[in-house]
Amino acid sequence: MRKLVLLLLVVVVTVLIGTIRRSDAKVVQFIFGDSLSDVGNNNQLSKSLAKASLPWYGIDFGNGLPNGRFSNGRTVADIIGDKLGLPRPPAFLDPSLTEDNILENGVNYASGGGGILNETGTYFIQRFSLYKQIELFQGTQDLIRNKIGIQEANNFFWGSRYVVALGSNDFINNYLMPVYSDSRTYSDEGFVEYLTKTLQQQLELLYRLGARQVMVFGLGPMGCIPLQRVLSSSGSCQDRTNKLAIGFNQQTTKMLQAMSSKFPDASFRFGDAYDVVNNVISNPAKYGFNNSDAPCCSFGKIRPALTCIPASSLCTDRSKYVFWDEYHPTDSANEMIANELIKKFGFLRPNGTEGPSRAPAMASAFAPSPLG
Ligand SMILES: *[C@@H]1O[C@H](CO)[C@@H](O)[C@H](O)[C@H]1NC(C)=O
Ligand SMILES: *[C@@H]1O[C@H](CO)[C@@H](O)[C@H](O)[C@H]1NC(C)=O
Ligand SMILES: *[C@@H]1O[C@H](CO)[C@@H](O)[C@H](O)[C@H]1NC(C)=O
Repeated sequence: MRKLVLLLLVVVVTVLIGTIRRSDAKVVQFIFGDSLSDVGNNNQLSKSLAKASLPWYGIDFGNGLPNGRFSNGRTVADIIGDKLGLPRPPAFLDPSLTEDNILENGVNYASGGGGILNETGTYFIQRFSLYKQIELFQGTQDLIRNKIGIQEANNFFWGSRYVVALGSNDFINNYLMPVYSDSRTYSDEGFVEYLTKTLQQQLELLYRLGARQVMVFGLGPMGCIPLQRVLSSSGSCQDRTNKLAIGFNQQTTKMLQAMSSKFPDASFRFGDAYDVVNNVISNPAKYGFNNSDAPCCSFGKIRPALTCIPASSLCTDRSKYVFWDEYHPTDSANEMIANELIKKFGFLRPNGTEGPSRAPAMASAFAPSPLG
């Protein structure tokens, strides 16, 4: 009899702890992306040629030392997460990553040079393409299941947020480079279709793995990154590259609408800051910027400098430059992009003031909605 009471007590306590853990569980993010979202994965890949491991990367972040972000400060995903009150997920390859850490903060699999396509960015030697990132996520799921059990793990992954932000490398470091065979295999339209079809398969895979709240970021006017501008003698934006980005954004919008109809218990949202970035680039002064065509970090007159290095010199006011290096926006440009995406994702009240970023409001902000 005593034993039975004791056993009952143990059962009650276990159930209680289980309940506490569930209702107490934090909402976390799993981030899939490229250099625009990398927070340190590539710095752990010893042979990768795409790294932000030298000064002056990270100069406006934390202690000012390089941290793996390809910017002077925060990424767009950092800023959106912060504004929604979500913890910043550590890099998958962060040596201190543990199961408890994953349950508290999520994981960031983003990798500089990575693309939607496996064949993108091969000349960086090491990078995680999106399929590889999803494979790593499956490994994370196994770890968490072993730690907290299948049912708890399912609840955890269903309740988490998923960010997917790739695509520019599939153009810049694949299709638009003659050394890659995709540049000869496809027409512009055909390539965009191949890319969005592949992305759809990857999102369906994520859905089957338990993702229910997915945010996909669109492409900016990538024909206007400094690296593309130096290709023309006038320094103007590459029109064809921008048209490819617009085509990708249009096809992805349609694809995500189809996904939302196909999987009504999930939300697939698209956030595209193309227009706002394009406006800033054509009229920087109006938005408080002073330069929208050259990198803040540059090596004398040598262009393109490819990466920011200790011998480079920096612009005097980093908050007034749209671009940090040849490819990547500054912290202040990322903040503007994040604000626009938050608006597009519907995280703002209709009158434009930010909603409270406490957990209950967040949950409803992410919930599936007919507004997409
Ligand atoms: C892409 O790479 C993954 C491994 O990361 C592999 O499982 C998959 O079959 C590849 N897909 C294609 C289309 O090559
Ligand atoms: C940047 O600032 C300088 C000095 O105030 C000004 O002459 C220049 O026109 C500005 N450039 C842009 C693009 O706003
Ligand atoms: C917008 O909504 C917030 C919260 O309801 C309110 O405090 C604020 O006064 C409103 N602003 C305007 C301009 O209506």
